Amino acid sequence: MFKWKDEYSCNINEIDNQHKKLLEIGLKLSNIIKDKNDLDHYDEIIEVLRELKEYTIYHFKYEEDLMHRHGYKELNGHRLTHEIFVNKIIEIENKDIDENQQKVTIEILTFIADWIENHILKVDHMYKDFLNEKGVF
Ligand SMILES: [Fe+2]
Ligand SMILES: [Fe+2]
Repeated sequence: MFKWKDEYSCNINEIDNQHKKLLEIGLKLSNIIKDKNDLDHYDEIIEVLRELKEYTIYHFKYEEDLMHRHGYKELNGHRLTHEIFVNKIIEIENKDIDENQQKVTIEILTFIADWIENHILKVDHMYKDFLNEKGVF
């Protein structure tokens, strides 16, 4: 699920590298819960959430700055969808993670999978041709 496929590419090197980082975070989390012998993964889940939050800060800023710099008309709508992701992470952080580790982990994995399917492959892909035409690769 978190393996890079060519169809994920936005044809912009730095953006692709940053999107690969999101897949890495997803893969890391899915490996954490594979370890069924050890039921306590609280520290690792918190670490992944911290990483995910840090990721949204630099990745969303990078994308928004790039769209702004090139006068992309859909910037505001795109920014709103980014805000929904940030709010979702805050919502997860506020849950009783320790008591619901399995449930929260599945929720984060579903969240990242949805992010790839419905944001990277749809919303991010909408700026691909526009930015490529501006000479951004
Ligand atoms: Fe993105
Ligand atoms: Fe985006």
